[in-house]
Amino acid sequence: MTLQAPRGTQDILPDRTPRWQFVEARFRDVLSRYGYAEIRTPMFEHTELFQRGVGTSTDIVQKEMYTFQDRKGRSLTLRPEGTAAVARAVVEHKLLAVSPVLKLWYLGPMFRYERPQAGRYRQHSQVGAELLGVESPAGDFEMIALLVDLLEAVGLCETRVLLNSVGDATCRPGYTETLRVYLRAHVSELCPDCVRRTEENPLRVLDCKVPGCREVATGIPRIQEHLCPPCRAHQDELRGLLDRAGIPFQMADHLVRGLDYYTRTVFEIEHGGLGAQSAVGGGGRYDRLIEDVGGPATPGVGFSSGVERILLALEAEGAALPGAFTPEIMLVTIGEGDERREAMRLARRLRRRFRVDLDLRGRGLAAQMKAADRAGARIAVLIGEGELASGEWTVKTLATGTQERVPDRELETRLGTILEQP
Ligand code: HAM
Repeated sequence: MTLQAPRGTQDILPDRTPRWQFVEARFRDVLSRYGYAEIRTPMFEHTELFQRGVGTSTDIVQKEMYTFQDRKGRSLTLRPEGTAAVARAVVEHKLLAVSPVLKLWYLGPMFRYERPQAGRYRQHSQVGAELLGVESPAGDFEMIALLVDLLEAVGLCETRVLLNSVGDATCRPGYTETLRVYLRAHVSELCPDCVRRTEENPLRVLDCKVPGCREVATGIPRIQEHLCPPCRAHQDELRGLLDRAGIPFQMADHLVRGLDYYTRTVFEIEHGGLGAQSAVGGGGRYDRLIEDVGGPATPGVGFSSGVERILLALEAEGAALPGAFTPEIMLVTIGEGDERREAMRLARRLRRRFRVDLDLRGRGLAAQMKAADRAGARIAVLIGEGELASGEWTVKTLATGTQERVPDRELETRLGTILEQP
């Protein structure tokens, strides 16, 4: 039996890595203009971090974690998301003592044991950002604006911002109880998971994808009608900021998100081209998380976005994305001997400035010229006995077929000039 990559994982092959590199480069660019610094945390953490951070009643912790024991019997988990790990690192290294406001971003793989389908994988990559130490809606605004700008920078158009509030420690308990009472009256229509959720964490029922539960959810009491005045004021201020900046959004009553750390603002960005897995990114405020992982009381807000889904959405929009490596210049040898050795030397020299390729298998002239064409090179530099003797190179512009002799010391300048022409 031949071995295959595990279910829900994918190889990103060389013809597609340029797309990833393009998206990642755009992200880095926007994030640096927003003043965010990159943080890299381990791919696995103590299981307890996600239990405490993400919440024991979430699907992620209950069903989706890759948890294992190491050789000393410690329970470790491949990170299912980045926020809890960032919070842990910030507390562990006391970063808040150095700077009361932290702007951090990360990019890397996350692991969730979910049922794979288009846009849903067991290993996926997220770009995420976290803003710590800002309590005001200015922080929520900055995060939504940043996510919108990241998606815009890679060229995504058909996105929709959804916004809701999940309340705080003052108003959420009352709402949760109202919800529980409502759900108990519909318990026969709920899936077994939601029967359990009704008692453990009724907000999670709003997330359930089972048709019966969705049906029940349509009549559910609205959290918007249960927000306390400070939560309402926070939301109103954020909405005002978004309106003023011209960022369109829709209020979404059922948006609660699948992680327990959120307080007040939650948001998601959807893309029409993604089918069932329509969330291209999501996030929200988490004013208790830093404390929950053992740090000083510190407000936080952040988001993350799945890179695979961004690429799927771009492809659905028919966006022009960069392709595989194309050399600008192909070195072509005429003859078998020192020409080939000289080509190796010259390639290294020219590669300091240009994208250069050459034949490493000792093929003949015709095969090399064909390869230059096929690779999309714009120039062939011919290396034959005459060139070696004279110290002048034959430079052929492939689009026009024009050939010229260029003295060695002028080679880079001339090649640069030709490549600058459209
Ligand atoms: P999340 O909504 O669970 O949030 O994941 C963020 C994004 O990752 C989703 O919107 C989606 O684009 C992508 N994603 C999630 N699961 C998968 C999967 N199985 N396959 C492919 N893509 C996926 C979080 O993880 C939070 N940490 C976001 C956050 C940051 N909140 C505050 N700060």
